Amino acid sequence: MTNANAAEAGTFMIGGDLAVVRLGFGAMRITGPGIWGPPIDREEALRTLRSIPEVGMDFVDTADSYGPDISEELVREALHPYGTVRVATKAGLTRSGPDEWTPHGDPNYLIRQAERSREILGVERIDLWQLHRIDPKVPRDEQFSAVRTLIDRGVIRHAGLSQVGIEEIEAARKVFPVATVQNRYNLADRESEAVLDFCERERIGFIPWFPLAAGRLAGSGGVLDQIAARHHATTGQIALAWLLRRSPVILPIPGTGRVSHLVENAQAASIRLTDAEFGALSGTGHR
Ligand SMILES: NC(=O)c1ccc[n+]([C@@H]2O[C@H](COP(=O)([O-])OP(=O)(O)OC[C@H]3O[C@@H](n4cnc5c(N)ncnc54)[C@H](OP(=O)(O)O)[C@@H]3O)[C@@H](O)[C@H]2O)c1
Repeated sequence: MTNANAAEAGTFMIGGDLAVVRLGFGAMRITGPGIWGPPIDREEALRTLRSIPEVGMDFVDTADSYGPDISEELVREALHPYGTVRVATKAGLTRSGPDEWTPHGDPNYLIRQAERSREILGVERIDLWQLHRIDPKVPRDEQFSAVRTLIDRGVIRHAGLSQVGIEEIEAARKVFPVATVQNRYNLADRESEAVLDFCERERIGFIPWFPLAAGRLAGSGGVLDQIAARHHATTGQIALAWLLRRSPVILPIPGTGRVSHLVENAQAASIRLTDAEFGALSGTGHR
């Protein structure tokens, strides 16, 4: 079908025992506008999901709140019984409309939602479940205890956090093993640089969301465009190649609802930046 092979990105061991290809798929973009309701082109969304193994990917990131439910339902429809594909999901944000996201960390709610995701996805145990946000209105240890309960009851295998700082990761680790951290991070947005370095030291998977953003770095004549032209690549592919080279614990999950973009993103795994290119790109990012 394609010359894309995401497996060229190598693998990362989630929680030390779950190997996944280090370039996965973000399933937030297979829903409607504002991540609300069904996708405008349902058939293309399903085709995109079914193409995931063909492009060498084996890791899908979704959440109860994408749609809500729609993303998990489509993932099941397209990929169940999954074969080699591992599905990660999340809970902790509720939705009241398009582009509206509210943290909700009531421990009983988190447990119920994880059990519900397990049912919707049709798995015995969720391979990776992530607390979507720490809710500031609820004591964080209560939310961490809910995660511990999910592991102890066998509802989930590994657990992670999202949009957190180092102190929060350390607090959570006192209650459950933190296998992954999912923070916004890309070539143009390095706010989580210290968190990434911490994750690398601790062998925690770092899943950068919004990985394709290159912000003001993209623009004709800039270093990003020059490097992209040299590799006959798009700037998005170079942004992904830079992430893959930045750290061995990074697992980008570019999101799309189109097969052509999925293929293009998977091809980024084959791009090898030179030391000089990596250095030039790293120097352009801002915190
Ligand atoms: N933990 C969190 O709080 C959090 C927050 C946001 C996202 N996430 C996760 O991270 C994943 C990735 O984040 P994201 O979707 O916001 O950002 P992204 O992957 O950087 O960008 C997605 C956008 O880029 C477009 N796109 C994708 N591939 C493309 C290509 N090859 N060429 C041109 N445009 C392309 C997509 O539109 P098309 O559909 O038209 O391709 C979509 O609008 C999500 O899917 C979700 O799983 C997590």
